[in-house]
Amino acid sequence: MKDWLKKIKASLSLQELEDIRVDLLGKKGVLTQQFAKMKTIPNEQKKEFAQNLNKQKSDINQEIENQKTILMAQALQKELEATKIDVTKFTPDSATAAYHPVMDTMDKIIRYFQNLNFAVEDGPLVEDDFHNFEALNLPAYHPARDMQDTFYCKDSMVLRTHTSPVQIRTMQNSKPPIRMIAPGTVFRKDFDITHTPMFHQIEGLVVEKDGVVSFANLKFVMEEFLTYMFGDVDVRFRPSFFPFTEPSAEVDISCIFCNGKGCRVCSHTGWLEVLGCGIVDKNVFDAVEYKNVSGYAFGLGIERFAMLIHKIGDLRSLFESDIRLLGQFR
Ligand code: PHE
Repeated sequence: MKDWLKKIKASLSLQELEDIRVDLLGKKGVLTQQFAKMKTIPNEQKKEFAQNLNKQKSDINQEIENQKTILMAQALQKELEATKIDVTKFTPDSATAAYHPVMDTMDKIIRYFQNLNFAVEDGPLVEDDFHNFEALNLPAYHPARDMQDTFYCKDSMVLRTHTSPVQIRTMQNSKPPIRMIAPGTVFRKDFDITHTPMFHQIEGLVVEKDGVVSFANLKFVMEEFLTYMFGDVDVRFRPSFFPFTEPSAEVDISCIFCNGKGCRVCSHTGWLEVLGCGIVDKNVFDAVEYKNVSGYAFGLGIERFAMLIHKIGDLRSLFESDIRLLGQFR
């Protein structure tokens, strides 16, 4: 008996333990055979014999249960160790997450202007008419409101059609001088290969005492910025119109696909339009009650920059969350 208990204690696996159990208590087991002897035992000894056997049986069962518990705990421990994951381990080829190309481009632009001491400002996505249009020299009757296909909400609120309202909010909340950018989401009713109803812009605004900044400063900052973003490109300023700037310009870079020779992407012009800018219109300063100041402003679409930098053909693909596209930006 003692030997069996020792054997049980020494068993190293659940299988070995089960084999021992069968050897003892199975159909032909050692103990089972002892029980079978019962009928050959004289009546007066039966009771003692049976008690003894039952005691042995329960001792063995008890020992088997104990050993089972120990072995199961060991097996679990082994399994845990084998399948342990070290979440701090660095694996260079593991599938890591990546920044979306739009956010990556936005970050790069933000960092560029932060280095030039521009503060990063913010404003609401649902704007009132005053900030989105009126204060930006776009009165209700103004035909230039048609340039922007606006989503209207209740109570003459709109989904902001550009980041320019943040210019107004920032000037209302602080005194000049101002040197800010405003990155963010904007909305226009438009959907084709170069337009999506939601996209991102970065606005820039510099305001100084009258006479401190000029168009030349704007031109220099834009040229430096575009060279930083696109490398060795030519930069061209074209006269244009925005209600909130006067004079206004649209800025082109020489086509980065054909080096200005002319191709399908630049419609064979050799140039790609990348941003709008100008000297802040006096009516805008009047709307925020700024006096004796001058400044410049610029605005650009981040998706357009991301598409040019990564040579992406269809703007809509940036918003489809297709892992095959996103995986390329790791
Ligand atoms: N808000 C203009 C647009 O969305 C861009 C712009 C900003 C132009 C600032 C000039 C100055 O098209």
